[in-house]
Amino acid sequence: MNLDELNKVAVAMTANGKGILAADESTGTIKKRFDAIATENTEDNRRDYRELMFRTAEAMKNHISGVILYDETIWQTAKDGTPLVDLIKKAGAIPGIKVDEGTKPLPNCPGELITIGLDKLADRLAKYYDQGARFAKWRAVIDIGAGIPSHAAIHANAHALARYAALCQAAQIVPIVEPEVLMDGDHDIDRCAAVTEWVLKETFQELYYNKVALEGIVLKPNMAISGKKSSKKASAQEVAEKTVKMLKNCVPGAVPGIAFLSGGQSDEEATAHLDAMNKIGGLPWHLTFSYGRALQAAPQKAWGGKEANVAAAQAAFNHRAKMNSLAALGQWKTDLEKKAA
Ligand code: 13P
Repeated sequence: MNLDELNKVAVAMTANGKGILAADESTGTIKKRFDAIATENTEDNRRDYRELMFRTAEAMKNHISGVILYDETIWQTAKDGTPLVDLIKKAGAIPGIKVDEGTKPLPNCPGELITIGLDKLADRLAKYYDQGARFAKWRAVIDIGAGIPSHAAIHANAHALARYAALCQAAQIVPIVEPEVLMDGDHDIDRCAAVTEWVLKETFQELYYNKVALEGIVLKPNMAISGKKSSKKASAQEVAEKTVKMLKNCVPGAVPGIAFLSGGQSDEEATAHLDAMNKIGGLPWHLTFSYGRALQAAPQKAWGGKEANVAAAQAAFNHRAKMNSLAALGQWKTDLEKKAA
C-alpha cells in the first residue's frame, strides 16, 4: 500500500468546494427513480441518463471531485463508444465504484441488516482498479426503532466496514466508509445524534483493529437530523451544530474529509445543512457532499427520459452541483436558489 497516494486521492475527493456524485444506484434502485419519471429501466436509458451527467462540463470540472459508479456503469461506453470512465476522467473527476452487494437480514437481530460482499472482494477490487476506479464505497445500514439498533448489528456492520476498508487500501483504492443511520423513523434529532455517535465510535474502533490508515479514507456519514416522521423538526442551525459536535467527538483529525449522504432530505435542505456546518468553521476535516438523491432528483425530473430534455437536465444538475459546492465552502445563500427558479 502506498499511503501517500491514497491520501492524495482522499484529499482530492474532498477538496475545497468539491464533492462527490453518488450515481451508484443498483438496477433495482434506479428503477424506482425511473418509475417516478415514467421512464423504462433499460440498459440504454441508464447509460443515456448517466452519460448526460458525466457530460455536464461545468459541474464535472468545477464542482464534482469524483463519481461513485455501479458495476454496470463502470464497464459501459457512451453512445459514441467512449468508455464512461474516460468521460469522467476527461472532465477532471475521479471514478469510484460501489462494491458492497447490498444487505441481508442479520440473524438473531429482528429488523436489522448486515451488508454483504466481502468474500471475493479482493479479486473484484483488482479488476476495478484496472478499469480506473481509485476509490470505492460500502454502505452499512442502521435503523432506529423500538429496541433497535442492537449492539450486535452495530458491531457486525462496523467490522464489515473495517474489513472492506482494509481490503481497499491493500488494493490501492480509497475506501469511502459509509455507516448510514436511516432517517426513516419518528425519532428526534437527539436520538439520531446518540445512535450515530455510537455507530461512529464502533466504526473507528474496528478501523483501528483492522489497521486501516485514516489518512487514506473518506467518511460518509448521515447528519444528526430528526426522523422523517418526527413531530419535532430540527432547524438547519440545530442540525449543523449537533452534527459538528457529534463528529468532533468521534472522527479523528487524521481523516482528510467527510462527505455526507443526503439520505432522503430535500435538495435544498441537504444544501442548507451542509452550508450551515461549514459556516461554523474551524473544523479539522473538510466537510462536503456525496449526494445521490439531493443531486439527481432535479435533473431526473427535467430529463423525463427524453432526448429533447438533455440540456434542461444538465442545467438542473449543474445548478444543484453548484449550490452544493458553495455549501461545501459555507458560501451558499437561499437567494441563489430563488434566482435560478
Ligand atoms: P443519498 O444521498 O440519496 O442518500 O445517496 C447517497 C448514497 O450513496 C447512499 O449510499
